[in-house]
Amino acid sequence: MKANSRKINDASKNSIVFDRYADCYEETRRVSTSLLSLLMFHLKEQGMLGSQMTTTILDVGCGTGRISRALVQVGYRVIGIDLSMKMLDVSVNKNAGKNYWKFHPLLADAIKLPILSDSIDFCYTIHVLHLIKKWQTVVDEALRCSKKKHYMNGGVFRDYYSLPIWKEYWKYLITEHQVKPSPAIGISKNEDVVTYLTNKGFKYQRIKDQITVNIKRRQIIDYLARMSYSSQRNVPRDAHQDAMKFLEKNDYFLPKNAPILKIKEKIDVWIFTPEEEKSKIK
Ligand SMILES: C[S@@+](CC[C@H](N)C(=O)[O-])C[C@H]1O[C@@H](n2cnc3c(N)ncnc32)[C@H](O)[C@@H]1O
Repeated sequence: MKANSRKINDASKNSIVFDRYADCYEETRRVSTSLLSLLMFHLKEQGMLGSQMTTTILDVGCGTGRISRALVQVGYRVIGIDLSMKMLDVSVNKNAGKNYWKFHPLLADAIKLPILSDSIDFCYTIHVLHLIKKWQTVVDEALRCSKKKHYMNGGVFRDYYSLPIWKEYWKYLITEHQVKPSPAIGISKNEDVVTYLTNKGFKYQRIKDQITVNIKRRQIIDYLARMSYSSQRNVPRDAHQDAMKFLEKNDYFLPKNAPILKIKEKIDVWIFTPEEEKSKIK
């Protein structure tokens, strides 16, 4: 038991573990069920999801189970791995609905997955590889576990980042406090994974889709105010508070007469399959 917790502590030094975001993650990273259904539609179309009776899925860096829960609810068996016990706790508590018993949470490091080789039908990492120094090992591990070497990486998110308020927050911190967004420690962009895997002979299909949802303007300010994003992790508290005051004072870029904003929810993922399967992919 002691040896295991030492391993987890060591792993945490090379990864950004999300314990501190566990309380706010579900709220701040929420996407609609429509977007998750759209994601499943694309996965089926790409031949990544077989029958619910026989398919086992591996969600590496599953967090609060935001994505895996949608798969479990329609009957898939999902193993969710994360290094944050707090995130996994939320994943279990939130997974109280239909088929809850088909979700298997595991506290483990993504760079050494405690999963048998060739035992999984489909593996994915969503918003994970920028948080892990040895991200290539995570990709290799996911592929080792996957029977057919099918793997997905990318993002499923509400696009607050292109809103003026988001841009103004960082512009203010950079110019007034010389504070930049805290850097990724793994990949800096998802295209790094594309290069890595195409060099290894993988083919890929990029899936981009989006819908529009309404969101309360006040919520976006709250999310920033709570410092609930890893890009804010090194921002000194006084600089952050100063930037928030600036946003409140100058809220003309999110006018008061527009309490509800239209926000894009986006899917931007790459599905990788071995080159020899090329002909089967559209
Ligand atoms: C941004 S969250 C994404 C969670 C989930 N995939 C989603 O899209 O909602 C990244 C997750 O990766 C986990 N993580 C970071 N490093 C890890 C590692 N080495 N092994 C397993 N999980 C890790 C964090 O604890 C966090 O829960």
